[in-house]
Amino acid sequence: MIFSKIIGVGSFLPKKVLTNRELEKTLDTTDEWITSRTGIKERHIVEPNELTSDLAFEAAKNAINQANIGANKIDLIIVATTTPDKIFPSVACNVQKKLGIKNCPAFDIQAVCSGFIYALSVADNFIKTNSATNVLIVGADSMSRITDYSDRSNSILWGDGAGAVILSASNKQGILSTHIHADGQHEELLHVPTTNIKDNTQQTIEMNGSQVFKIAVNTLDQIVDEALIANNLKKEDIDWLVPHQANIRILEATAKKLEMSMEKVIVTIDRHGNTSAASIPLALDDGIKSHKIKEGHLLLMEAFGGGFTWGSALVRL
Ligand code: ACO
Repeated sequence: MIFSKIIGVGSFLPKKVLTNRELEKTLDTTDEWITSRTGIKERHIVEPNELTSDLAFEAAKNAINQANIGANKIDLIIVATTTPDKIFPSVACNVQKKLGIKNCPAFDIQAVCSGFIYALSVADNFIKTNSATNVLIVGADSMSRITDYSDRSNSILWGDGAGAVILSASNKQGILSTHIHADGQHEELLHVPTTNIKDNTQQTIEMNGSQVFKIAVNTLDQIVDEALIANNLKKEDIDWLVPHQANIRILEATAKKLEMSMEKVIVTIDRHGNTSAASIPLALDDGIKSHKIKEGHLLLMEAFGGGFTWGSALVRL
């Protein structure tokens, strides 16, 4: 039986930091409102000439170094992103070019904030069916590019960044299971109205925050049960919750459902904001670098996002 296991993790954040205090200067908002409603204090923002593939490439290099394999050993590249450099080619192809490798398949996955879980699920299946051996999976987004900075109700949420893992074939079980879902019926609650047709439609995020909040909390409750039941595990078996970072109140609700103290939740939202597909691998790298997550730990990763899409992964590091 072939299993897949994470053998390297890396991340990258753009240098520029946008704090709540700076947002106070241009928006009718306060640091106190943003902190208490979202948990966010600051977020990293790309420079005008910094592309999603630049962030993805830096995170990929870090993951490859940590895995201690040559880039030429990678036989599949999957990038989860909603903010590609161009409509085409894919960010995955641009990352492949920047890594100086050729021939392996490379494609993007678009599942907004659930993109990394979707990519992990696809990569796991490629490995288990013996179709790939070393997969580079990147979650990368430049959400600031699709943010309307005059809209106080959602511009305060978003940040930019990238996280990457190398998922490799192994005789040890790393990915225990992945569970991915979608329900397209709520499109208008969270979307960017831009079409690919040449027109003047809005190019920034439109969100009904309170509706999305309610659906996210209810759905994440079910995700937790689904992942535990599938693996015959109990809540107390989980060492760390590594969630998509959308809102600290959503993280607290999920931790409560797991009867888990917030001490066991990797939280980066205060420093990163919502980086969409990048947020889980960024949190994973943060948890490892801060010596919280260690080899052998059992992690529950979960996400909910635009689409709506949602999913989870149970991972033994
Ligand atoms: N500063 C001050 N006041 C504000 C701000 C702000 N930045 N933004 C909104 N307000 C006001 C509103 O105008 C409203 O005022 P009113 O009562 O006078 O009308 C009041 O605050 C409450 O507004 P709500 O929208 O109800 O605030 P809420 O507590 O729901 O918080 C938030 C808003 C933070 C957006 C929250 O709803 C949220 O996090 N939603 C979920 C986001 C999410 O999870 N998205 C999914 C993943 S993202 C993806 O997939 C791309």
